[in-house]
Amino acid sequence: MRDLPQLPLDKAAFVKKYGPWAVIAGASEGTGECFARELAEMGINLVLVSRREEALKALGEALKAEHGIEYRAVAQDLTEDGAGLRILEAASDIDVGLYISNAGADAFNRFFEDDTSAAHRLVRMNVSTLIDASNGFGRKFLERGCGGLIVMASGAGLGGQPNLAMYSATKAFEINFAESLWAEYNERGIDVIAVAAPMMKTPMLLRTVPEGFDLSQVYDPGEVTHNALAGLLAGEPIQILFSGPSSKDVARLEVERKERLIGFVEFNKTFTGG
Ligand SMILES: NC(=O)c1ccc[n+]([C@@H]2O[C@H](COP(=O)([O-])OP(=O)(O)OC[C@H]3O[C@@H](n4cnc5c(N)ncnc54)[C@H](OP(=O)(O)O)[C@@H]3O)[C@@H](O)[C@H]2O)c1
Repeated sequence: MRDLPQLPLDKAAFVKKYGPWAVIAGASEGTGECFARELAEMGINLVLVSRREEALKALGEALKAEHGIEYRAVAQDLTEDGAGLRILEAASDIDVGLYISNAGADAFNRFFEDDTSAAHRLVRMNVSTLIDASNGFGRKFLERGCGGLIVMASGAGLGGQPNLAMYSATKAFEINFAESLWAEYNERGIDVIAVAAPMMKTPMLLRTVPEGFDLSQVYDPGEVTHNALAGLLAGEPIQILFSGPSSKDVARLEVERKERLIGFVEFNKTFTGG
């Protein structure tokens, strides 16, 4: 696997700003499980959401035993209509300081050679559910004066890619949406980060790639999620890492996107009065 230098993370400051509860949409395995493990280690209670309740309960019980945290297991398919609202309902009586929109992968496909049912499911998961859940939690963050939103997107959202038309398009939505929210709320104590993630050795990836696939260029998911948590607290709007053909431009892209956003924050004050 590829090495990823790990960013420093002030755990006490993290808990103060984003505790006592975090919600992870897509928590039972892969990057979602990595987020859960690092947050539990910091003592943050967890609402674990995904389709397989038994897997969520097994993870929740293990984290409770290891770290003494509380957890809720919420069985919810994120591709269903109203999924975001049901997540909000499941967390309506607790003080949530962090929402992680994690699940969102799709298999390789050919758009004109299938009907559009899978495409609409992906839009519900990566667009509609994200809109409802982030809006609901964001309102609470405004009331409590702080909070965080992590959106696990993909390098595929930075431009079109063959066999991933809907995936690339919904990941572009996630990136632009998160960057826009960063620009709107970062001066009001609410942190938002988009992670344009690279290929990572998650169970989903291992189920998807052909036998013999070269895994030397993929990343450790726990290293990517650690840096996402650190980047959120550091106030970064986006982290870009990808394993594709133009990966040499990654550092420059990240800087350019942040500079552009900061420019728009100032520019928009001339319209909104600050
Ligand atoms: N892995 C990579 O190489 C890679 C590369 C770039 C970006 N990313 C992004 O990183 C994020 C995480 O990726 P991942 O590889 O861990 O795979 P993933 O399939 O996006 O996420 C897996 C987790 O989400 C849950 N999940 C999947 N579909 C769901 C649904 N319809 N409803 C509710 N929960 C669902 C799974 O649990 P259940 O099975 O229990 O539902 C599991 O806990 C995604 O947003 C993905 O786009 C991944």
